[in-house]
Amino acid sequence: MANHLIMNFNTRELADHQSDFIVLGSGIAGFFAALLAARLGAAVTVMTKQSIQDSNTDKAQGGIAAAMDAADSPDLHYRDTLLAGAGLCDREAVRILVHEGPRRVLQLMDMGARFDFEGGRLALTREGAHSCRRIMHACGDATGAEIQRVLNEQALAEKNIEVLERHFAVDLLVRDNTCHGVLAYDQRGGCLKAFRSRAVILSTGGLGQLYEHSTNPDVATGDGIAMAYRAGAEVMDMEFIQFHPTVLNLPGAPRFLISEAVRGEGAILRNRSGERFMLNYHEMAELAPRDVVVRAILAEMRRHAGSNVYLDLRHLDDELVLRRFPNIHRTCLKHGLDITRDTIPVAPAAHYIMGGVKTNYFGETNIDRLYACGEVACQGVHGANRLASNSLLDGLVFGGRIAERTAGLWREEMPPRTEFASELPSPGDNVDYARISGELRRMMSAHAGPLRCREGLEAALGYMDDLAHLESTAARNIQGAELRNRLLTSRLVAETALMRTESRGGHFRDDYPRTRNSWLKHIILRK
Ligand code: SIN
Repeated sequence: MANHLIMNFNTRELADHQSDFIVLGSGIAGFFAALLAARLGAAVTVMTKQSIQDSNTDKAQGGIAAAMDAADSPDLHYRDTLLAGAGLCDREAVRILVHEGPRRVLQLMDMGARFDFEGGRLALTREGAHSCRRIMHACGDATGAEIQRVLNEQALAEKNIEVLERHFAVDLLVRDNTCHGVLAYDQRGGCLKAFRSRAVILSTGGLGQLYEHSTNPDVATGDGIAMAYRAGAEVMDMEFIQFHPTVLNLPGAPRFLISEAVRGEGAILRNRSGERFMLNYHEMAELAPRDVVVRAILAEMRRHAGSNVYLDLRHLDDELVLRRFPNIHRTCLKHGLDITRDTIPVAPAAHYIMGGVKTNYFGETNIDRLYACGEVACQGVHGANRLASNSLLDGLVFGGRIAERTAGLWREEMPPRTEFASELPSPGDNVDYARISGELRRMMSAHAGPLRCREGLEAALGYMDDLAHLESTAARNIQGAELRNRLLTSRLVAETALMRTESRGGHFRDDYPRTRNSWLKHIILRK
């Protein structure tokens, strides 16, 4: 018996599925790693919780940052990334990102990704805290959808890749600090399955759905971080959560991202009195680092007792707005807003976690044969605050590195079958998973969001303590497993936020508003 498993099962009763590599997640990091590994000869199984379309990659708008222009350089990109990271970036990881990034982008273009061009050159936009125009985009503001389209097509056509949709990875099968495979729940077949592999690559994305409002798809509930931590993986920088400043906030409409590129092209933030306010907060005004813009918006919302501010594009040329932001224009129009005529009500929402499963520069975790890349992973490249549009690049660069690192692994003998079993007591029939998830999200939003303090974090942790009994019972179904993951990752965020008695990047403490040199270090946790 292994004590990290949350559903009852016995591998002796389950069919033995085998694959050289199992990739969990179908966003840019997972699919890119899977494609490169498959082309090097490995048999790869990609498993995803819903459909391959349900990823943060698909929703990405602004673009992908890389020094592709003669007027730019990896050194400038390096400098901007370090500045945004507020002192906590791992310099070597950033060096790798900015130097290997352009080559990986060209690889993606070779696979068929079509970025926007202007006058025969890549069209580049600007976003917060970038010192020059560096962001490539596709279809105006649907960069992620274009990348996802290419990766989906390539993966589905690749004979060495098997794609399993609606497979919820419940737990990693880890014994003696070695990952033997994955226990997954097949939602179509209604059964548990055990998968054996030479290596598992975690690329399950982030945890925006721990909060009431998020730009992330419903699937982003921190599952990868939770299952890795349960199995003994180290996690790092869990307190650093990035909130996106401008998310549509209109009754009845979904929390739809209004890309930072909109401000990059000149849009202005106004408060409820119609005043431009960002100049009062930072010299870079609307293009200040994201955490600065978020706190300024929250301060203006408080000052005007409102639940939003406004993004104003009305002074921009209509042709530019329609060409650059067709997706945002179309979506807002569906909800009665013409962004060339109307201001857009916006408020911050949870967007990205800088922390995650700790890895080295090759995606290796402290568990043998367990790798991680993309948002679920943390090698320190984003420090305390990610530079806008560095996340897609991170997925490409570190996903690609894993594929190359493991190139010879699939030729080794498949490890023998190892039996796993779990027999936990039932939580009873009256545990209401949906109600608890809702309460937990409210707690996290109130106390572990963009503004934090000791009393609030302790209240959130107290709420979690009251639910601790659930941790020693079996999850009845995937809603139960997801709740266990939400609870664990919420706790990791709140505990580390309480420990860090300073403010830095995506972590702001009302009771410790200053950045302190003594905190120029990472918090690493292990079960
Ligand atoms: C955006 O388009 O504003 C999102 C870009 C990012 O989060 O990197």
